[in-house]
Amino acid sequence: MSEGTADRQLRDRARAVIPGGMYGHQVAPGAAYPQFMRGGRGARVWDVDGNEYVDLMCSYGPVVLGHQHPAVEAAARAQAAIGDCLNSPGPVMVDLAELLVQTVRHADWAIFAKNGTDATTMCCTIARAQTGRNKILVATGAYHGAAPWCTPRPAGVTAADHANLGYYTFNDLASVRQAAAEAADDLAGILVSPFKHDAGYDQELVDPAFARGLRALCDATGAALILDDVRCGFRLHLGSSWEPVGVDPDLSAWSKAIANGRALAAVLGNDAFREGAKQVFVTGSFWFSAVPMAAAVATIGALREEKAIEAMRTKGEALRDGILDQARSWDLAVNYTGPPVMPYLTFAGDAGHELAGVFAAQALRGGAYLHPRHNWFVSAAMTGDDLALVLEATDQAFAAVRKHLGQ
Ligand SMILES: Cc1ncc(COP(=O)(O)O)c(C=O)c1O
Repeated sequence: MSEGTADRQLRDRARAVIPGGMYGHQVAPGAAYPQFMRGGRGARVWDVDGNEYVDLMCSYGPVVLGHQHPAVEAAARAQAAIGDCLNSPGPVMVDLAELLVQTVRHADWAIFAKNGTDATTMCCTIARAQTGRNKILVATGAYHGAAPWCTPRPAGVTAADHANLGYYTFNDLASVRQAAAEAADDLAGILVSPFKHDAGYDQELVDPAFARGLRALCDATGAALILDDVRCGFRLHLGSSWEPVGVDPDLSAWSKAIANGRALAAVLGNDAFREGAKQVFVTGSFWFSAVPMAAAVATIGALREEKAIEAMRTKGEALRDGILDQARSWDLAVNYTGPPVMPYLTFAGDAGHELAGVFAAQALRGGAYLHPRHNWFVSAAMTGDDLALVLEATDQAFAAVRKHLGQ
């Protein structure tokens, strides 16, 4: 934890050479949290002072099968022994594109990149190239990455960066229709998350009628329906997260879990948008590295073989049931929202996240690494012992909240 000497020393050194000592969401979410981690295996991680935690953040999403998954690591090592960053991509790029097209129902093609922001940005560019129009609709408050057009912070961003965006409210079809009417014949696409997972707010599952309404609107206008599956992809379903909802997007953005922690992103699309995808110029020095692609092939194989989606759901449901029982027994009013594999806990009336902070800090001391202002992630590596340890820690965390409230 932060009191530990190794973490403190690293923070001191970082302050001198890294602006602010750390940036983005990697800033430790509270004083009790370590800023630097040493390693991880399965569902456990260690900070630089050797404290061990059950990992309920999964590196903010990338680690879906658990840290150091043997089959994924073996595939990555085997590819690294041959070559990684070469003059052109390896055969594994085609293997992976074929596998994704087989795995994700709406996909007829794939393009690879590194980060989720690359993928969401590329989806917008392809939608514009295909339609010859400019405007993209986004849900107010939704996170789609850290580029100037989508960063939640205003510093360094110009009005022009947002000039081609329109805004709607998630799950409110009338607001989408209104924004589409304002975009008129300049509507290139509608960008949407599989469910509402804005950091710091209670989560909201998608209303299937809303998803169908977006599809119908895009069909009627020729705009692209773009699903941002960066955070949810391969956690809710082994395919697009809206396959169980019965709605296929035209384009989808992926990253995080697709290579179990290796740097990789993908845009998947249907044939109607293939021409636009051919026209745009997209590339990056490291986008064709073969090691993350080999890791992705192994990840998708392991997700299927290990029935990982079901395993995560079962553990996620047990975690939810345990936590809600505890909240009841401590007589604390909580909202536990989102799918069980990506839950988020808030306390009634705790708009400033004060109680969430007390809860998370005590859970951390008890060995459960979760977050007070961001949804959590349940990995397929979580064992019964891990779950028991988490529930012991969360029980103490509820006790700390009770104490904080002075009762
Ligand atoms: C829904 C969503 N879209 C896009 C991104 C951006 O991904 P990256 O941080 O890899 O650029 C994120 C990252 O958290 C995300 O959750």
